[in-house]
Amino acid sequence: MSASFNPFDAQFRLDPYPVYCELRESDPVHRSFLDAWVLTRHGDIKRVLKDRRFGVDPIPERIAERHRHLSRRGGDLEALLTASQRFFFFLDPPTHTRLRGLVRAVFSPDRVQRMEPLLDSYLDRLLDDLTERAEFDLIEDFAGPLPVFAIASMLGVEDFELRQLKAWSLRLSRILDPLVSLEEYQEMNDVVLGFDACFREAFEHRRRQPRDDIISALLAGGRNHDDLQERDLAAICTMLFITGEETTVNLIGNGMLSLHRFPDARAQLTDEPDLAGAAIEELLRFESPVQLTTRVAHEDVDLGDRVIGAGEKVVVALGAANRDPAVFDEPDTLRLNRHPNPHLAFGDGIHFCLGATLARAQGRRAIPRLLDRFPYLTLEIDDLQWRPNIVVRGLRTLKVRA
Ligand code: HEM
Repeated sequence: MSASFNPFDAQFRLDPYPVYCELRESDPVHRSFLDAWVLTRHGDIKRVLKDRRFGVDPIPERIAERHRHLSRRGGDLEALLTASQRFFFFLDPPTHTRLRGLVRAVFSPDRVQRMEPLLDSYLDRLLDDLTERAEFDLIEDFAGPLPVFAIASMLGVEDFELRQLKAWSLRLSRILDPLVSLEEYQEMNDVVLGFDACFREAFEHRRRQPRDDIISALLAGGRNHDDLQERDLAAICTMLFITGEETTVNLIGNGMLSLHRFPDARAQLTDEPDLAGAAIEELLRFESPVQLTTRVAHEDVDLGDRVIGAGEKVVVALGAANRDPAVFDEPDTLRLNRHPNPHLAFGDGIHFCLGATLARAQGRRAIPRLLDRFPYLTLEIDDLQWRPNIVVRGLRTLKVRA
């Protein structure tokens, strides 16, 4: 009998790779007890992500159902529902194409490049604050603050309370997970209201005084779309925090853990900082921050010797694709100069990560700087605490000694 896929299992959370390996070899198009197909081969996953016969998992419909349920009891999820209907990673074309186009136009690689000196000075400040400390938490004190600062600065809301934005992003990132309680949905509804108020304030400022930031650019771009309202733009800005915050924290946290587990690779990166670009790709492959995503078949599709029926859900395990020996030699070994490295950590097809350039820039700058400042940094890995999230894989804390 083949392994079963249970992302809620404590052992799986600790180390999902043996399960992925067994499924990939013995049951690559696996029918799971979760009422979904689970794919673990790189080839199948890439095909599904690029195949327009598959659409996204309609999470807003799930929220609408909870909203109806709560409305009968006098509550509601109105704000969360409305925002989620504009989070374009939950949408198929044509609305997806239209909203993504709006962000793509303003989230350009040269805008990210212009951010790099700001990222460097922020990282230096974080590292300066840590120099006197014998011990710190790499997640809380180093990886954690960076992405929220990066997104807030790009949007132009860096004056807002970053801790608050971070706490909201973390809470709202649960929207990606398959099992979410009603209480959590209600909390997420409050978070959306908070983000909404914050962005509307920023819109008002930028309307009066545009700057070189994404909010000003979105407002300018939005003028060409008559049907686009402020709440649509606020939802798009909120979505950037959900997608770009926790994922990037985990690139740095998981990345440092992988380097700890492969000390030769760590020494190589310390000696050859120019390797940083390739190293980040390998760290993304090896311990992928986004482990899975889901699609739904719009029609019957043959996959291997199985048929995915119309309306059935498919879980694509990006973390498994990235360890597929058919594509990566010695996939369970970290090789910083692996080339080529066609990992799927940022997905593929029309939903390919819009923030990949920003995420890469942060990883490439943060990890070598940390190693340079703390050459003798040791990680305490005896009791690793992974977050309970299913989609995003990352550590709750990572204690280190300087
Ligand atoms: C290491 C960090 C990151 C990883 C591993 C990552 C991974 C991913 C993946 C796998 C997807 C595709 C999901 C799917 O196909 O269902 C995605 C989509 C997306 N990501 Fe990222 N991401 C990262 C950072 C960021 C950042 C920093 C931002 C922006 C601030 C961002 C914005 C987005 C957006 C907007 C989408 C939706 C694209 C669409 O649906 O068209 N991501 N990301």
